[in-house]
Amino acid sequence: MTSSQAVCLRGAVQVGYHLLDRGSSALVAVEQTIRVLERSGLFNAGNGAHRQLDGVRRMDASIMEGECLRAGAVASIEGIVHPITAARLVMEETAHVLLVGPLATKFAKHHKIELQKRQATRGKLSYDSMLKQMTTKGDWHGTVGAVALDRSGTVAAGASTGGIDLMLPGRVGDTPIIGCGVYADNETGAVSMTGWGESIIRLAVAKEICERLRYGETPASAVPKVFRRLVAKVQGSAGTLVLTPKGRFAIEHVTSYMAAGWWDGKGGPTVKDRF
Ligand code: GLY
Repeated sequence: MTSSQAVCLRGAVQVGYHLLDRGSSALVAVEQTIRVLERSGLFNAGNGAHRQLDGVRRMDASIMEGECLRAGAVASIEGIVHPITAARLVMEETAHVLLVGPLATKFAKHHKIELQKRQATRGKLSYDSMLKQMTTKGDWHGTVGAVALDRSGTVAAGASTGGIDLMLPGRVGDTPIIGCGVYADNETGAVSMTGWGESIIRLAVAKEICERLRYGETPASAVPKVFRRLVAKVQGSAGTLVLTPKGRFAIEHVTSYMAAGWWDGKGGPTVKDRF
């Protein structure tokens, strides 16, 4: 983690905590925390999102709250600074959970979501060259996410990403798929994933962690079991943020590092890249 990323992460955690401290909902805290990270351009989301092999940024995001299990998501959305806000608008302003592609972009523009300054530049690779360059397991570092617990006991989770390196145009990872990249349920907890999306989707990891919490496991015992299976079955890579309605949490990863932070209002936020 660079020092600018550490400063930004600390600031984002503080924004989220102060909102909760003033009585905001977990949903608002999650959205606003992720907006700080998307705006910064320092992570693989929003202004810093990776480009697909045709040179275009197509971003994914989702958000979910645990009281009524409301959720919203966007996939392959282009040209906006805050996909997480587009996801929240899908949840709150439509009867749907997921909007994709140019019509998700149209929806975001209709709601006047801020546009990115630099327009996407189209690459010149032929489709055959893109197929050759596509990697099985492109670097996924930099997806951003957050989980929060508010005073009413409601949890929320969100995530936002530009995907992985060297991906085909149109590729969608785990981040906008509810139950894979994100899940939140007041009966279990909130989970936000980062990692190699194809592996996370195949084990529906966020929901799998939540189901283990439902049957009495703690985050600290549930996550390593799910991650062991992820590695053994599909050679997966992932990191996660987990928070229960009782305030138990875990930040865990099966990769060499994962930049993350947390704060319960005492002292200052903890920000590290190894947990
Ligand atoms: N976890 C981000 C992605 O695979 O797209």
